[in-house]
Parts: sequence; C-alpha cells; structure tokens
Amino acid sequence: MTDLHGQVAVVTGGAGGIGQALGRRFGREGMKVVLADVLAEPLEEATRTLTDEGIDAAGTLTDVTDYSSVESLAKQTLDRFGAVHVVCNNAGTGGVSEGYMWEHDLADWRWGIDVNVLGVIHGIKAFVPILLDQGEGHVVNTCSGNGGFAPIARGAMGGPANAVYPMTKAAVLCLTESLYTHLEMTGTRVRAHVLFPSGFLNTGIWESWRHRPKRYAATQPRRTPEHRLADVVARFEAAGAHVEFTPLETVADQVVEGIRADRFWMMGPPTPAEEVVRRKAASILARSNPDYLVDVLGQSAEKEPATEGGKR
Ligand SMILES: NC(=O)c1ccc[n+]([C@@H]2O[C@H](COP(=O)([O-])OP(=O)(O)OC[C@H]3O[C@@H](n4cnc5c(N)ncnc54)[C@H](O)[C@@H]3O)[C@@H](O)[C@H]2O)c1
Repeated sequence: MTDLHGQVAVVTGGAGGIGQALGRRFGREGMKVVLADVLAEPLEEATRTLTDEGIDAAGTLTDVTDYSSVESLAKQTLDRFGAVHVVCNNAGTGGVSEGYMWEHDLADWRWGIDVNVLGVIHGIKAFVPILLDQGEGHVVNTCSGNGGFAPIARGAMGGPANAVYPMTKAAVLCLTESLYTHLEMTGTRVRAHVLFPSGFLNTGIWESWRHRPKRYAATQPRRTPEHRLADVVARFEAAGAHVEFTPLETVADQVVEGIRADRFWMMGPPTPAEEVVRRKAASILARSNPDYLVDVLGQSAEKEPATEGGKR
C-alpha cells in the first residue's frame, strides 16, 4: 500500500506530541484521520487544529486501558469513515516512579502497564480483525529505545531511573514481533511495525504526572519533586550536552516512509545510543553480566554516584 490518499488512520494518544504529528502527516497524505485520546480538551483542540488545516479529522475520546472504549473507537471509526487502514497504538505514559524499583509505587506499575502495554494489546485485539477482513492495513506500535534496546539505568535527574517505562516498552517490542510473525503466518498483506521515535522530543511524556488518572492515584507519599522537562534540559546542558529538539515531523516521516517501504523497524538514521544493542547482544552471547547499561546521556550507568532518588 503506497498510496495512502483517501485511506483512514487511527492514532491513539493523538491529542498532542507524536500522535498529533502523525495525524497531521497522515492528513497531508490525503488520509482521513481519527485522533483518540483520554484528555478531552487537548483532543478537541488537536482535532480542530488539523481540521483548520484542511484535514478530514475526527476526535474520539478513548481510554486505551479500557477495552470497551477501544472497541467503541473502532466502531466509531467505521461508522464515520467506513474503513481503517493504519492503526497507530501510540498512547503512552512516561515515568513517574522514584527511587529503586522495589520502592516504586504499585500504582505506578499498574498505570504504566495498563496504558503502555494493555493499551497496545487492546488496539491489536480491536483493530486487527478489521484489517484482516479488508485484506490490507498497518499496525504501528510506538516503542522506545528506553526498554526496546535496554533500560536506561540512571534517570535524567540522577539516581536510579524509573523501571516501569522501559519494562513496558520492552513488552511493546516483544508483542509487535509476535504480531509480525502471526500476521505473516496468515498470508495477509496486513503488516506490523514498531516505531522508535528518534532524537530529543519536546512532548508531554516527560511530564505525564500532570494528567495522572484518579484510579491510578499514588498510594505512597512522594519524597522527591516530579521531573519537569525544563529541569531535564538544564541537567543535560550542565553536563555539556547541547539540547536540540528533533522536530516531531521527523518522527512522522519515519512512520510514513516505513509504511511505504514495508519496514518493520521504524527508526531514524543510526545513533550512538543504538550501540547498546550490539553490546547487549554480545553480553548475552558471551554470558557476561550486563555492562552495557547507560544513563540518558549515554554514559555508563556506574559512573555517577547515586543521588536524589538513589541512596537514602
Ligand atoms: N517523547 C519521546 O521522547 C518519546 C521517545 C520514545 C517513545 N515515545 C513514545 O511516544 C508515544 C507518544 O508520546 P509523546 O512523546 O508524544 O508524549 P505525549 O504525552 O505528548 O503523548 C502521549 C499521549 O497519550 C495520551 N494518553 C495517556 N494515557 C492514555 C489513555 N489511557 N488512553 C488514551 N490516551 C492516553 C496522553 O493524553 C497524551 O496525549 C508514547 O508511547 C511514548 O512512550 C516518546
């Protein structure tokens, strides 16, 4: 499927960030777009913005942690546009946990797993049968190098990194590999893809705590402040790492080009961060203990003394 014109795309987590950029890019290809998100006002605004740009876009309030909500998204898409060709399971929540992983709040684990893993599974279960009936289509699951390659071991602000997020993204890679082979086994032209957004991206994921749903409310008192993107940028700059945000259009380009090229691995040009993949594979094959884990700056995780959420 190279001509996307007139086809229909559904993007979860479409109210902002990468999701909205995907919606815009699909719209510019002449696709009809359904943005789905759990945040009503940002969703309305994102949909209006695309519509004002001349894109045939609809916003559907959806909670990907709730299967009936995702089923309803599929139904509303078919009611409105009659078909669906590209499904981006992109909704995600970032890391809110503090301390070592055994100190993480169970509510953080549940929230991360429900949105980042179960949300993708719900998207597959609700939409893949529709794509199979049509005989064509694409499922794009948003992963991350943080987990998809290996977990970032030390957090952006020092101290041990949140362990929930990378675990969920490792799961996204694994389940997308399964989806790829299962689809192949049926002989369908429906394809699975895994997206690794490249670069330093200015999106809401760094401050997901701002929209924490009540049912995943923290059950432990917080000991350290929530991270703000501005603090992370300041820390990078202090460490001598110049921060330049990658335009979200670049990520959207990766997806459209990946669909056109039938590319499973939707990734940008090779980056030094990918070296961890080679080092991890070597460690597994040599049965050597993990020495490949790095912090967000790409430095060895052992280099810096524990701070903040680390030693107590
Ligand atoms: N920003 C990055 O650097 C980066 C890097 C790698 C991967 N990712 C992944 O990209 C995806 C998009 O994130 P982003 O960076 O654009 O951040 P973002 O916070 O701007 O977008 C995520 C969207 O998901 C929505 N969402 C959260 N819970 C939901 C739920 N239960 N149901 C429906 N929608 C829900 C949020 O409301 C938000 O609009 C995520 O899966 C994220 O993990 C981001």
